[in-house]
Amino acid sequence: MASRRLRLAPSLLSADFADLAGAIRAAEAGGADAFHLDVMDGHFVPNITFGPALVRAVRARTKLPLDVHLMIERPAKYAEAFAKAGGDTLVFHVEASDSVDEAIRAVRATGAAVGAALRPDSPFDHVAPYVDRLDQVMVMSVYPGFSGQSFLPDVLPKVAEARRTLDAAGSAADISVDGGITTETAGPAAAYGATFFVCGNSVFASGSVADNLKSLRRAVDDGARRAVR
Ligand code: DX5
Ligand code: ZN
Repeated sequence: MASRRLRLAPSLLSADFADLAGAIRAAEAGGADAFHLDVMDGHFVPNITFGPALVRAVRARTKLPLDVHLMIERPAKYAEAFAKAGGDTLVFHVEASDSVDEAIRAVRATGAAVGAALRPDSPFDHVAPYVDRLDQVMVMSVYPGFSGQSFLPDVLPKVAEARRTLDAAGSAADISVDGGITTETAGPAAAYGATFFVCGNSVFASGSVADNLKSLRRAVDDGARRAVR
């Protein structure tokens, strides 16, 4: 496959919520390609974060694409609200209460791009029949709910399986990895075929946001050169 730009999407969950505008500016200046917004409802996952109002506030501060990760039950019901708030891609979980077909239809109807996410214990088979209708397949590399967890390397074969399936189908959909992406784990994820890297703590928890993004960029580019196919 022709090489394409690998994208880094800082997760604002790891930023200072009292200074999101500052976090957005720093990440943009440091070369972020998109922002990742983690919506949690206290039902699908134990944690609660934010809803469409915060997505709208972020939308007002950046022109970069907003990747909205819906860790919620009934994603179909909420798709329109998150699209209207400015989400460019709405990523629902295949384990949530709506059928995959229903969730895809609901997101597609809003005009937003459609992503389907897999928890670490969900096999790729759960999205395989739908790849032609997806713009992103998200392989979660931690159990959803909290930032700052350690990457689960057991998901790498699933990234490879997604890569093979999308290539065979001629799909240009992104394969995103979310959870525990650092300068150590981003490279292997890229080598196995991921194209979109969600990074929370590795961008915002310590040090300079720009330096952190530069190190992550180097890690994904180096990883992609060592492609395992
Ligand atoms: C976890 C979220 C992730 C998280 C990533 O449930 O979906 O997006 O914010 O944070 P790190 O990169 O710190 O694991
Ligand atoms: Zn996420």
